[in-house]
Amino acid sequence: ISSLMCKRTFKTNGCRAVLFDIDGVLIRGKKKIKGATESLIRLQEARIPFAFLTNGGGVLESVKTKQLMDILNEEQAKKIELSPEHMILSHSPMKALLDKHRGDKILIIGDHDSAKVAREYGFTNAVGVKDFFHQNPHIHAKSANKVKMSTIEQSVKEYEENNLTQPFKAVFVMHDPEDFGRDLQICMDVLLSRGSPGSPFHLDDQEVDLYMSNPDLLYSGTYSTPRFGQGLFKLCLQSVYKEMNKRDLRLNQFGKPEKVTYEFAEKKLEKIASELGYNKVDVIYAVGDNPAADVRGANNAGHHYQSVLVRTGVFSSPESNDRADPAKHVVQDVNEFVDKLINKGL
Ligand code: G3P
Ligand code: MG
Repeated sequence: ISSLMCKRTFKTNGCRAVLFDIDGVLIRGKKKIKGATESLIRLQEARIPFAFLTNGGGVLESVKTKQLMDILNEEQAKKIELSPEHMILSHSPMKALLDKHRGDKILIIGDHDSAKVAREYGFTNAVGVKDFFHQNPHIHAKSANKVKMSTIEQSVKEYEENNLTQPFKAVFVMHDPEDFGRDLQICMDVLLSRGSPGSPFHLDDQEVDLYMSNPDLLYSGTYSTPRFGQGLFKLCLQSVYKEMNKRDLRLNQFGKPEKVTYEFAEKKLEKIASELGYNKVDVIYAVGDNPAADVRGANNAGHHYQSVLVRTGVFSSPESNDRADPAKHVVQDVNEFVDKLINKGL
């Protein structure tokens, strides 16, 4: 009897859950991919927990949620109940760095609102590369010509008022650089000068920590073929550092396909699932368009994960699967995936 009671008490109520990549699965640039809105509504109606896992970023989770909703925008999209808790950006797991770098002076690379995002996360001394550049425009002469004097004066004032004259302890690359050449120069200056650009280079051990949020060399945007992403900046940094220093650049990578990102996502999904009344997540379908990011990440993330590859983004080969990173399931698009999931055909 007692073992029967035990079984009843601990009866599990598991579920299947979904992690959606965004670019190349739900949208391309500012256009939605056919069937994306309906697919999310169907999942919601079937009470299947889902979240978004993108290597995009540069804005807060709440802003990205709103941007996605605007693109999926239709009368119907209003039916989808989303909160920023559903949105995992490339830099969302970087909040864990607060333990180490909370009050450190950090250089933030990345367009849009990257520096603001870092400060919102709690990195109180995060300095945007643009503000730093305005403080010393001659650091990159080619970009200096484009800056207005009034903007420079305002940045210098803020910089001095906030007493940010100590060395940088870390560099966070949180999105694709706004000005590739300028940001490459400033990033190398910080890394090679022990955090004090303008002082001589020290070609020895790397003192400044470097963190990058997104390793994607390619991603799928509005253009017909894939475009270079933050991964191109990483390749350049590694190559220039090696050329200058004859050593490998030390860096910590976040984003897909990194394990740390999938552990973070699993915890988020468990929380979303528990709010829907499930007490565990049995399987997570990770749906993506980029074999090197989405498929590789899910394939290496542990037994809960199953990779699903769509043909609406980076992967466009007529072959039945990707050769280097074969997915567990290959479908045409998000629509076919949801059909199969709901009809238990996966
Ligand atoms: O810059 C974003 C891009 O690298 C990938 O976005 O949504 O396909 O992970 P996503
Ligand atoms: Mg994608």
